[in-house]
Amino acid sequence: MDLKSEQEVLSFIKRSELVEVEGVPFAKETEENWSLLQAFAARPDDLLICTYPKAGTTWIQEIVDMLRHGGDPQKCARAPTHKRMPFIDLFLPKPLTSGLEDAEETPSPRTIKTHLSVQLLPPSFWEQNCKVIYVARNAKDNAVSYFHFHRMNQGMPEPGNWDQFLEDFLVGKVMWGSWFDHVRGWWEAKDRHPILYLHYEDMKEDPAREIQKVAQFLGIEVTEPVLKRIVQHTAFESMKTNPMANYSTIPSLILDQTVSPFLRKGTVGDWKEHFTVAQSERLDEVCARELGGSGLTFRMEL
Ligand code: A3P
Repeated sequence: MDLKSEQEVLSFIKRSELVEVEGVPFAKETEENWSLLQAFAARPDDLLICTYPKAGTTWIQEIVDMLRHGGDPQKCARAPTHKRMPFIDLFLPKPLTSGLEDAEETPSPRTIKTHLSVQLLPPSFWEQNCKVIYVARNAKDNAVSYFHFHRMNQGMPEPGNWDQFLEDFLVGKVMWGSWFDHVRGWWEAKDRHPILYLHYEDMKEDPAREIQKVAQFLGIEVTEPVLKRIVQHTAFESMKTNPMANYSTIPSLILDQTVSPFLRKGTVGDWKEHFTVAQSERLDEVCARELGGSGLTFRMEL
C-alpha cells in the first residue's frame, strides 16, 4: 500500500460502535466478518495465546516467541508483535490487512492471538486439539488498564470517565464482553483441553518460574543462561523500549501513545490509584458472585 492510501485509510479510523454477537459486544468490523472468523482453519501445531484484553497478552507473546527462538532477541526483532503472531479477531478497514489474512501468510508452527471468550472460539481449534496459553489478570488492574487503552486507542469506543467506564466493565458492555465470563469460561475449559492457565500476578512475582511452566507446556528445554536472557528481554523496562514489542510501529492516528503508553505501568495494584473504596467493595462482591464455586481466585496485590 502506498503512503497516500495508507493515510486515507487511517483517516477513516474512527471510534467504533459496539455490535453484539451472541450477547458479546464487538467492533462492527468483527461482527461483519464473523462467519469468516468462525471458518478459520486452525492447524494442529498452532499455538493459541488467549487473554481478556489488557491481561498481559503482549508480554506472554514475547515470552513465547523467545522460547520458540532459543532466546535469540534478534530473531524476535524480525517484525512487530502483531505481525509475528496474528490477532485473528482484529479486522481493519481495507486495504489494511486483517489478522486472518496475516495468519494465512504465517508459516507453521504459528502462534495466534485471540481475545475471544471460550464459547466463541472458531471450532477448528478444538477439532485440532491446539495447545492454548491463557493469561488472566485481576479484574481491578485489568479494568484500569482497559480504561487507559480505550483512551489512547482511536479505534475503540469512547470510554467516558473512569466511573462510567467501570460501570460498563462490570456489566460486560465493553469490547470482548464480560471479564468474569471470560476468565471463568477458560478456567473451566482447561479441564477438557490442553490449556495452560497463567496469572499475570504470578508472572510479576516470579517471571523465571512462570517462563519455565510455559517451556514445559511447549516441550522446550531451556538452559539457565537462556532462561535468564528471556527474563531480561521480557522485563517491562526492556519491552517498553523495544519497538518490535511496544506497538510504536502503529501510527499514532490509531494508537496515541502520548495519551497513554501501550506499556503503561506494568504493575500489580495500580487499581488503588483509580478505585474508590465503594467501587473496590462493589467489584469484590461481583467477583465473589460471578466466580463463586469455580475455585478461581486472584491476587489484588503482591
Ligand atoms: P498496564 O496498562 O497496567 O501498564 P495487553 O498486552 O494484553 O494489551 O496488556 C497490556 C498490559 O500489560 C499493560 O498494563 C502493560 O503495561 C502490561 N505489560 C506489557 N508487557 C509487560 C511486561 N513485560 N511486564 C509487565 N507488564 C507488562
